[in-house]
Amino acid sequence: MKKYICELPSDLFEIFLVELNGYGVEILSRDERNTVFAIYSQNEESQTIKETILSIFEDLGSGKIVLEEDIQEENWEEKWKENFKPILVEPFIIIPEWEIYEGKDLIPIKLKIAMAFGTGLHPSTQLMLSLIPKYVSKNDKVIDIGCGTGILSIAAAKLGAIVDAVDIEKKAVEECKINSWENQVKVNCFQGSVEDVKDVYDVVLSNLQIDIFDKYFSQIKDKFKKVWLLSGIFKDEKDKIVKMADENGLEIIEIITKPEQGKPDDLWYGFAIKHK
Ligand SMILES: C[S@@+](CC[C@H](N)C(=O)[O-])C[C@H]1O[C@@H](n2cnc3c(N)ncnc32)[C@H](O)[C@@H]1O
Repeated sequence: MKKYICELPSDLFEIFLVELNGYGVEILSRDERNTVFAIYSQNEESQTIKETILSIFEDLGSGKIVLEEDIQEENWEEKWKENFKPILVEPFIIIPEWEIYEGKDLIPIKLKIAMAFGTGLHPSTQLMLSLIPKYVSKNDKVIDIGCGTGILSIAAAKLGAIVDAVDIEKKAVEECKINSWENQVKVNCFQGSVEDVKDVYDVVLSNLQIDIFDKYFSQIKDKFKKVWLLSGIFKDEKDKIVKMADENGLEIIEIITKPEQGKPDDLWYGFAIKHK
């Protein structure tokens, strides 16, 4: 098996992935300027893959293969399997992009890349995924504030919602676009913060942190009509959310919890909130 380590300006990386047409890459490092990534190929297809990579680089006018090495196949497969295991949060199952969900009972969410927050492993993401099927209906207008990989947006879109997604990080917006495309759902992803959310939506999804809710609670409150699903709240931060909801004329209609891994007493909280 061949491993090609490549380098490309970060602003061309998303286009490169689209041109590569679904072939898996492993991101090794990424910053504002450059993305370094590895592409693996079976020996018999390696020449074609190499030619494809070089021809995309030529079209883009940038990019290079910095290292080409022979690697053991077993290691490669083990590495991918180690990194990505399906995660079940009913009715969703989160799977890596190269897997095909053959069942009928669950809704698959494929993650092609997950460098941004939102692999599905974190309790706060799982709390949101548990609340979404209960409160998001077909044709609801939804905004996912702090979309990360786009995992929550994809879940809502798969239920038939019309979804916008925003994140302050450029990298997250890129990943949200790629992952939405991989799941064949339409999500309008854009870079920005709460101030950049201009519309009012049926449902707001926000898995953020307490300091961001401290700053933006009353602004986010004005962005939803039906329900606001909120998480990212750990242990006694819960009391702050309860207080802010009350002060802002909101009613908490459901609270769910999930423990931090290996610490059954340290709880993460998820809330469903509506206007009084
Ligand atoms: C905890 S992660 C949630 C990711 C994903 N939605 C999930 O549930 O797994 C929070 C995300 O919010 C983004 N974020 C932080 N502050 C923000 C702000 N003021 N406006 C928009 N996004 C923000 C971060 O970049 C990060 O991707």
